Amino acid sequence: MDMMKNKNTLLHLLVPVALLAAGAQAAPKKPVKVFILAGQSNMHGHGEIAKGEKGNLEWVVENKPAYKHLAGADGQWTVRNDVFVYSTDKNDKTRTGGLTAGFGALPTTIGPELQFGHAVGDFYDNDVLLIKAAWGGKSLAVDFCPPSAAGEAGYAHIPGAPKDTGFYYVQMLARVHDVLADIGTYVPGYEGQGYEIAGFGWHQGWNDRVSKPFNAAYERNMELFIRDVRRDLGTPNLPFVIATTGMRSMQAKDPRGDALIRAQQAMANVPDFNGNVAVVDTAAFWRDAADSPSKQNYHWNRNAESYLLIGQSMADALIALAQQNPSCAVRGAGKVPGLLAPTPPMGWNSWNAFEKEINEDIIRRTADLMVSTGLRDAGYDFLVIDDAWMANVRDEDGKLIADYEKFPRGMKAVGDYIHSKGLKYGIYQCRGHVTCQDLPGSFEHEEADMQSFADWGVDYIKLDSCYARKNGRLSSEDYAIYGAAIEKTGRPMILSISDFGQGAWIWGGKNYSQLWRTSGDIFPRINSVYRCAETSGGSGSSHPGFNGLWQFAGPGHWNDPDMLQVGNLKDPAYDKVHFSLWCVLAAPLMAGNDLRTMTDPTKQILLAPELIAVNQDPRGQQGYKVYNQDEIEIYNKPLSDGTTAVLLLNKGTNTTDVTVQWSQIGLSGEQPVRDLWERKELGTFTGSFTAEQLAQHGHRFVRVGTLGGAPLPGPVPTPPEKYTVMNKGTTRLADLYYVMKEGQAPTFDNGLRVKSESRVMYRLAGNADRFKASISLDAPSPDDAKGTFIVLVEDKFGGREIFKQEKMAKSDAPVEVDIDVSGLDFIMLEFTGKGAFGHWADARVESETAAD
Ligand code: GLA
Repeated sequence: MDMMKNKNTLLHLLVPVALLAAGAQAAPKKPVKVFILAGQSNMHGHGEIAKGEKGNLEWVVENKPAYKHLAGADGQWTVRNDVFVYSTDKNDKTRTGGLTAGFGALPTTIGPELQFGHAVGDFYDNDVLLIKAAWGGKSLAVDFCPPSAAGEAGYAHIPGAPKDTGFYYVQMLARVHDVLADIGTYVPGYEGQGYEIAGFGWHQGWNDRVSKPFNAAYERNMELFIRDVRRDLGTPNLPFVIATTGMRSMQAKDPRGDALIRAQQAMANVPDFNGNVAVVDTAAFWRDAADSPSKQNYHWNRNAESYLLIGQSMADALIALAQQNPSCAVRGAGKVPGLLAPTPPMGWNSWNAFEKEINEDIIRRTADLMVSTGLRDAGYDFLVIDDAWMANVRDEDGKLIADYEKFPRGMKAVGDYIHSKGLKYGIYQCRGHVTCQDLPGSFEHEEADMQSFADWGVDYIKLDSCYARKNGRLSSEDYAIYGAAIEKTGRPMILSISDFGQGAWIWGGKNYSQLWRTSGDIFPRINSVYRCAETSGGSGSSHPGFNGLWQFAGPGHWNDPDMLQVGNLKDPAYDKVHFSLWCVLAAPLMAGNDLRTMTDPTKQILLAPELIAVNQDPRGQQGYKVYNQDEIEIYNKPLSDGTTAVLLLNKGTNTTDVTVQWSQIGLSGEQPVRDLWERKELGTFTGSFTAEQLAQHGHRFVRVGTLGGAPLPGPVPTPPEKYTVMNKGTTRLADLYYVMKEGQAPTFDNGLRVKSESRVMYRLAGNADRFKASISLDAPSPDDAKGTFIVLVEDKFGGREIFKQEKMAKSDAPVEVDIDVSGLDFIMLEFTGKGAFGHWADARVESETAAD
């Protein structure tokens, strides 16, 4: 290794920032190289920094020229600004920062990380992150027990307590994945360059030496550990190095110490570990007690030089292995850093497959399957536990608790297990006093519940709205409370608004959440799929003038037409249309099928890489319709790479050709076309592309254009004056786009004609003073119909009624409405009554105060 290739990125050598800024634009950063350093006390690190006469770090730096780089001319320990450490001390207190002395088991000690970090940091141009996952006194046989060593099907239950088999295996991976999910926090200056897991270092042994059965099982356990870690990290040939345990002094008189070292050395001879697993013999790094700070044999007599040598040798071995193995896939690159949901969230949610019938075993098996089926590595990284996980009462302190029949180890242990699989943890709650399944809701427990979630390591909260109408708070007020409660926990958690599509896109959902429902619940029928898609991609929940809700979505905030029913529909062809629609709509992809019985065709659909790439395109442009007639739909989704994804769909019963003209998608002339399902080039087409003979539900999903060109223009957003009261005097609501609707679309004359149940929201933006209308039951109503007219502030869950006319009969004379709406941002006109039709005649607002 070339130690001279020093990047001079040590803090005390830093070039002044101003000088750099004057130069040319910096090249994009390379992915962060991530190394995991795991094991027990010796990996934690007991090399003394100052204690003792000889062999401490100060002594080493003074006496051994090879380690001069560890301190600056000023006598301070060097702090690197290109190598960063995540570590915990003996008391499990987190420590992070630029690599320096003091990341050992205590701030006064070092472990192998110090010289390891210098060596890899010097070798790679990339920024480096070291994740230390070490705990003293832990065995491979029990504490770090890999799932495959714990029985054919893995652990019998989720390891939830320190004494459970595999508890520290789970903790180790959970921490690694947590850190990687939030890499920008640990790597200052992170710019979304992504990361690659570059190597794993293991240094451990004492507790497996002292127990005879542990000792005998070590070789097998070590081999399974390497295989399981690679699987759970999604890194098949991850370079792996074992530094033999520190029992050199005892070897002669201790056959078990000897056996353990031999078991470690045997890893180099496992046939398929050849070239990707290395064992470094540490015997030569022994320093006698007389030359060391202490006589603590196993802890290398607390000699700093021993730890430096171990670190250097591990780095050398990993770098050598890395030369032979192509690096593991870069993850997270291109996404806008700092956003909780830079692209639409992907994952799995328990509701569609299991409804209330969930438990720890199902969740654990689903987590395992998300890894083994490849879903996780395709991007499905949230595992969301929906309604009915909680007990039907809170504990005596008012805290939410698990239904212990279903989740005997509680919700934190489930979360740790999910995290250990490289998945993120999602959970359900409701802002009503009870959930949609009548279990304890979060109303008036907001702070405590969000804190419980943070304590359990939750990453994603699905917040439902059943019974919220009783809260006496507007939806925007409710969500502001949750937003603040989440922020107070200090844990970044995605908030997913589940309100069946009540207009969060317009009333400011993006101030508190990353996604919001646009629809009612999805059911496993193709018509339900189409209905949900229409709420986001068409006029299902907004005025047709908007041409869908695309203008309200983008990196960080998404329209959610509900979770996937892929695998639950009658026909795989329906599953495919469903998936295509969700991909073109940049919808969150939350699988909702039972993974235990997933068929191969379903798996192929959920894993379709080129569709996922369209959905996850970092530009975040939601697809929109460029054609919509006679049950033929063509959607266009311009991508970040200069091409555009085009979905051609026939919903009608007649088989027909469907043609997209290049002029409809901002292109002209000859263009290459690629089929995203088939993953093959279809050739070059001039002026248009035709999907031939599409039967009902038939579709084609293609990518058009040349890769690498300038991004194609997106659609033009609807300007606010179309959907906002802006002018002084009278504004007829029939002349404005409503911003949200539920139920059938109104028809317009001088006012609105509606069919029960109907809800229509208008944006006043504080610019109106009075709302006026003349209300009556409309002609098509049956003679015995009764209709109720309500004007609400904002949406129906706000529940704040500013006008109510109950149970009007068809024969009743029209009632004049004339109410104060000053200062209101939104009003909703609600009309209910079985079979009834209503007329908001002459519906209008009047304004004295509007700007113009
Ligand atoms: C509502 C939601 C569903 C599901 C159930 C759970 O209906 O819309 O997605 O969460 O509640 O009770």
